[in-house]
Amino acid sequence: MNSGPLITGPMGTVGPTTTSAERLAELIGADTLHAPMYASLASGIQGLVRDGRLGVGVRLPAERELAAALGVSRVTVSAAYGRLREAGWADARQGSGTWTQLPATSGVVAAWVPGGERDGTLDLSYAAPPGPPEVADAYAQALTELPRHLGGHGYTPLGLLALRTRIADRYTARGLPTTPEQVLVTCGAGGAVSAALRAVLDAGDRLVVEHPVWPNALDVARELRARLVPVSRDLDSGSGFVTAVHRAARQTSARALYVVPDFSNPTGATLSEGDRRSLVISMQQQEVTVVADEALADLALDDQESLTPLAAHGRPGTVLSAGSLSKAVWAGVRIGWLRAEPDVIARTAAAASRDHGALSLVDQLAACALLDVLDVVVARRRVQLRAQRDALVAALGEHLPEWGVTVPPGGQSLWCRLPAGVSSSVLVDTAEQLGLRLATGSRFGAGHAFDDMLRLPFTAPVPDLLRAVELLVAASSACAGRSPSTPRRHLV
Ligand SMILES: Cc1ncc(COP(=O)(O)O)c(C=O)c1O
Repeated sequence: MNSGPLITGPMGTVGPTTTSAERLAELIGADTLHAPMYASLASGIQGLVRDGRLGVGVRLPAERELAAALGVSRVTVSAAYGRLREAGWADARQGSGTWTQLPATSGVVAAWVPGGERDGTLDLSYAAPPGPPEVADAYAQALTELPRHLGGHGYTPLGLLALRTRIADRYTARGLPTTPEQVLVTCGAGGAVSAALRAVLDAGDRLVVEHPVWPNALDVARELRARLVPVSRDLDSGSGFVTAVHRAARQTSARALYVVPDFSNPTGATLSEGDRRSLVISMQQQEVTVVADEALADLALDDQESLTPLAAHGRPGTVLSAGSLSKAVWAGVRIGWLRAEPDVIARTAAAASRDHGALSLVDQLAACALLDVLDVVVARRRVQLRAQRDALVAALGEHLPEWGVTVPPGGQSLWCRLPAGVSSSVLVDTAEQLGLRLATGSRFGAGHAFDDMLRLPFTAPVPDLLRAVELLVAASSACAGRSPSTPRRHLV
């Protein structure tokens, strides 16, 4: 279980690293600096920290060296470092230079509060598919079973045993032996992620997060006053991501890692079996608890073999796993689960029960019925999503060829690079006025990273997706020339 290649090489380095002046100058690009030079340099470094290309806890080069590499004066670099320190993006440690950090209020948006329903608006602010007919059948079945439960008090603090057993059996079938005592029923995968982060993190703890990242995880971490350590992840990052997480965790003495192993939202990135093993072993060695959000695990779209849950690669307790019916079936069911060791389950259940008592029995009965037909629903869902993904990619290629679109192997969204100079927040604002609701790219970043990116879910039927592309073409021409200082909408 926990055998496999140990990670070796540069990650063996203990303690924080520096970045060389030449490397930093290359990342910033001397020719992008403009007057006032010190402010431009500070914002360049800040941007690199925001999007994870420059890690948190990295020592910046000596002022003189960076000045020489960039061809600017030392005073400029000194003023830029000063500005970063003032704004909380860097910290000076006596005698040992200036280190990158994220400010306590680094602009992570406080809450994911989507707009209300509006007639006529095509809403792609959520990546969540419409429900299949099996949902109504499952609720009909639940109602026929309900009378058997009416004699009891109706509270199920851990969740209905029949449901926990089905969830445990599914993990066992996927290569991770699980008993019902290791399962807590939660309000969606979101409830499970939130419960797991609360169980693991104390104020001030460092949490390594993939970047871009599902924003609710950031919101919870922020509420817990955890310090974020973003590590860049995209479709091509592969084992490089595992290496970077290992290093980031070591350099920051992180307490936990939040990761979406399968078809991450928004990028669609997936960890191979080998990368899963290396990641879990590395975290286990460093005593970092992994919160694995497996909400999208069923959504392989290219006939790939399904991969084992992350927790199968580590000792009990290393990985807390979250899952739900939201993406494979329908988010309206609101049933998810946390898989962890029984002591964590008991503690978490106690906290959840204080918060909201327990979940609806009818929803849990319906979830049992849905789990019984899950394979059929998932097979159909994959066919739909694949057709919708391909139609959206083709329409973007035809009508917005200057957009950078990479086809993900699964999941539910495209993570698109916008053409130079186009701001995602401006585009989203303009699209909203035309009747298309989307989330801004920066919603998926710590700080204000990713204003040059846009998430496009392919969860809607093809005609809606084609309409969305038409509206995006209109929005792109309408917003040409508007500046990103326009107020942002943060919908997801
Ligand atoms: C990675 C990830 N985790 C969790 C969720 C929330 O899932 P649920 O509706 O089950 O709470 C989402 C929804 O978009 C998601 O993308």
